[in-house]
Parts: sequence; structure tokens; C-alpha cells
Amino acid sequence: MGKARILDAHNSQAIKEAAAIIRAGGLVAFPTETVYGLGADACNPLAVARVFEAKQRPSLDPLIVHVVDAASAKRYGIFPESADALMRRFWPGPLTLVVPKTVLVPPIVTAGLDSVAIRVPAHPAALNLIRAAEAAIAAPSANQFGYVSPTEAPHVAHQLSDKVDLILDGGPCAVGVESTILSLLGPTPTILRFGGVTVEELTAVVGAVEHSTGTRERPQAPGQMTRHYATKTPLQILSEHQDEAEPLKGERVGLLTLTSRDAGRFAAVEVLSRSGNLREAAANLFSALRRLDNAGCDRLVAYPVPESGLGLAIMDRLRRCSAR
Ligand code: TXA
Ligand code: MG
Repeated sequence: MGKARILDAHNSQAIKEAAAIIRAGGLVAFPTETVYGLGADACNPLAVARVFEAKQRPSLDPLIVHVVDAASAKRYGIFPESADALMRRFWPGPLTLVVPKTVLVPPIVTAGLDSVAIRVPAHPAALNLIRAAEAAIAAPSANQFGYVSPTEAPHVAHQLSDKVDLILDGGPCAVGVESTILSLLGPTPTILRFGGVTVEELTAVVGAVEHSTGTRERPQAPGQMTRHYATKTPLQILSEHQDEAEPLKGERVGLLTLTSRDAGRFAAVEVLSRSGNLREAAANLFSALRRLDNAGCDRLVAYPVPESGLGLAIMDRLRRCSAR
């Protein structure tokens, strides 16, 4: 396969072409509000196998199924009554629900699990594509397994251009971190991954939730690998007043920080949000990490951000990125 074409995601002809590729068992990279997805027809096991191959993703790591609304979600998952309020409040949007799967979902999508992860993305191009393909679309983030997730079409082209049939360019992703994953399998809803919907927003709808998001070598839920979202350049998270940030003589150090600070000593600096807004910071996170990774630094350092709201998702990504 040669280099994939990049078409404007807002063009209806492009959506038609992309839908035809999905129906024929091909792969389309498409924008969502969180990150770009690498999509295949969820009910075509061969097409889904190509997703794992393209990403070099271990086949024990299950994919998220993307649908257009709650009614179609219910064809693929068996939802408890408690899910209704969540779907009404957060769909379309960055919330993925894990529920028992129906027979329509082939085992390769769920890595053999009896549960399936489902969400309704909030990007019009994603919804148009799913509608036009008349399919549910299984899609992981469109990056090589373990690397920083893509939030712009060129990020996808850079890593997967020769492995996808088409890339839909919808501009930068508005949310910038992946969806929050909430398991509804047990008696209490359990967060498996912090993401675009905050814990505060979730508890306002369902009351107390449990967390099972820790970094661990042996993931309790698949996809909780300790090292993930990783830059090639090693990254260290600093404590607030640490001087390990201090570059040694001749050393090139890149700095990631929430708000601006004295940055003279650094070879490259990325400020996530001048006003300290965590939503803006999340939207900038992965592009900033990529720029730092490409700035020819010996190492990267990051100051922690407050762990509330979207700060939880940001710190989760930074911790996994920094794990060696
Ligand atoms: O925002 C997002 O969720 C993006 C966009 C493209 O929708 N997708 C995304 O996919 O982040 P991916 O594959 O990079 O991450 C999906 C996560 C994985 O960590 C996987 O282990 C988890 O979802 N997952 C999928 N099915 C699961 C299941 N049945 N039980 C537990 N975890 C599951
Ligand atoms: Mg991913």
C-alpha cells in the first residue's frame, strides 16, 4: 500500500469514499472530538485484524466500538438501566461504557472478553462516516501502539500513512485526550481510564464511582499498561520546586509546563495553557509532547498539573509516558 490520501472530513464526497472503504473491509483514520481513530467495520473480523496489524497492537487489547446513538449501541451491548442517564447526559461525547456484549460483536474486537466498550463520538465527521458506512466502527487511537496519541491528521499520516486506506482530516481534536472508560459490569460503576468526561461530571449523574485506573505492569483491565502514550525521548515528572529540571552543561532539556515560567535554560518549552485552563491544556497535550519529542532533546521534564477535572487525565497520560 502506498501513502494514504488525506481528504477533508467536512466534504461529503470524502465521507462517501471513506464509507465505501469501511464497507469493503478497509481502514480509515478519522477525527473524533478526543483523538483520531483508526477505524474498521466492527463486524468484519478480517478488517479488525488489519487494525491490530497496522498499529502493531497486542491482540489482547480490545477495541472501542463507535456508534451513532444509544439505540444502535444497544444492538452491540447489553446496558443496565443505570446506563440510560449516562447515555443521555454524555452521548455524543467522550464517555465509553463497558457492558456485556451481544453476539453481533466478533471476539477479535473484544480480545475474547464477554464485555464490549462502546461510545458515541461527538465529531460530526465521525458520525457522518458511521452513518454512511451503515456499520459500527471499531477504532483504537490512530497511532503506533504505545506512542503518543494523534490529535491532528498529520500525526496519523506520519506514523500510519502506508498502513491505512484513507485519512479524513477534521483539524485538531477539541478534547485532546481519549474518552473516559467506565465499566458498568459490577454493582458500582468503575472508571478504567480517566479521560474527557471528568470524575466530577460522572458522579453528578451516577453518584459514587470506583477507580481502577492505576498504572501497573499487569493490567487488571486490558489497556492499563504502565508504559503508554510514550515519547521516544525520556520524560520525567518533576515535583513542584525540583531543580532536577536544571540542564547540565551542554545538555538539551525540553520542558512541558501548564502555565508560563522562567524557561531560559531549556532547549524547547511547551506551555499547555497560558491561563492555566485544564481543558485547553488537555487539548494541547499530545501535540505538545510530539513537538518536544521532535526537538532533538536529550530528555524532557514536565511539571505536574492539579489533579482535578481534566488534570486527572493529563497526569495519567504523563505518568504512563514517563514510565520506563
Ligand atoms: O477517545 C477514545 O476512546 C479514542 C477514540 C478514537 O474514540 N479511542 C481510544 O481507543 O482511545 P484505544 O484503543 O486507544 O483505547 C481503548 C481502551 C483500551 O485501553 C482497551 O483496553 C479498553 O479501551 N477496552 C476496550 N474494551 C474493553 C473491555 N471490554 N473491557 C475493558 N477495557 C476495554
Ligand atoms: Mg490508544
